[in-house]
Amino acid sequence: MLRKLAISTTAALALSSGAALAAGGSGYVENYAFSFEGPFGTYDQNQLQRGLQVFTEVCAGCHGIQYVPLRTLADEGGIGWTEDEVRAYIDANFIEVYDPDLEDWRAATPNDNFPANNGVGAPDLSLMAKARAGFHGPEGLGINQLIYGIGGPEYIASLLTHYTGEEIEQYGAVLYENETMEGGLISMAPPLWDDAVEYADGTPATVDQMAQDVAAFLMWTAEPHMMARKQMGLVAILILGVFSVLLYLTNKQLWAPVKARAKGTAPAE
Ligand code: HEC
Repeated sequence: MLRKLAISTTAALALSSGAALAAGGSGYVENYAFSFEGPFGTYDQNQLQRGLQVFTEVCAGCHGIQYVPLRTLADEGGIGWTEDEVRAYIDANFIEVYDPDLEDWRAATPNDNFPANNGVGAPDLSLMAKARAGFHGPEGLGINQLIYGIGGPEYIASLLTHYTGEEIEQYGAVLYENETMEGGLISMAPPLWDDAVEYADGTPATVDQMAQDVAAFLMWTAEPHMMARKQMGLVAILILGVFSVLLYLTNKQLWAPVKARAKGTAPAE
């Protein structure tokens, strides 16, 4: 019996460590340590701002994030800009949205969402960090997600940094070899190169750095209220803890006379 238990425990441990890197399909996913992982993890505001810059200057050329309202750039716990900074961002980047009433494009306001971008068939990235979540193991229980993070931002950062440099032509289209993409081939050319952007905070813009920054930003677009959710969870656990102690004490006090009587040491009534 004991031996059986030991064998199954070892098997479970082996499974969990093996599954850690098999997220988001069959490709290779590196396990980055993002600041927002774990029960106390929070977004790193500077990193989100750098990630937004990478998205704006590089990815937005092909990808939209049409489910993200521009005004949320001013939300606490995220990018954390003032409303004026949001307006300045919209102006500086000439962000336009298609207005069905005008049947034309017009300058965006903070009340609009980021624009869609269907030009080259690149998928919308608003929810990509959740769509490509991984680390589902062991046995689909998601325990690895508690330890390693949800795997989605890891997938995005890995995808951007694991091009092999090989390309092939298939039916007239160029495909790039990528170790993270399922099937190993992607039609997105490597979008990042060193110093593709110049960070205002002086962080060196290596491909690795930009990949992690934009992945963190896309985690925020997919789950902007993560920090509020974690706080609620902690408060709930604290309240439940206090209730448990109170219940225990109440229970003890309620039954004290009965127990005392059973032992024959009841105080005279
Ligand atoms: C030149 C256009 C272009 C640029 C720039 C670009 N992409 Fe892409 N991206 C694409 C296309 C096209 C696809 C669809 C690829 C496919 O399915 O083979 C894609 C797919 C993706 C995917 C989905 C991969 C999957 O698992 O299906 C992610 C994630 C992604 N891009 C992230 C980014 C990020 C982050 C940036 C900015 C650093 C970026 N892309 C810049 C064109 C682009």
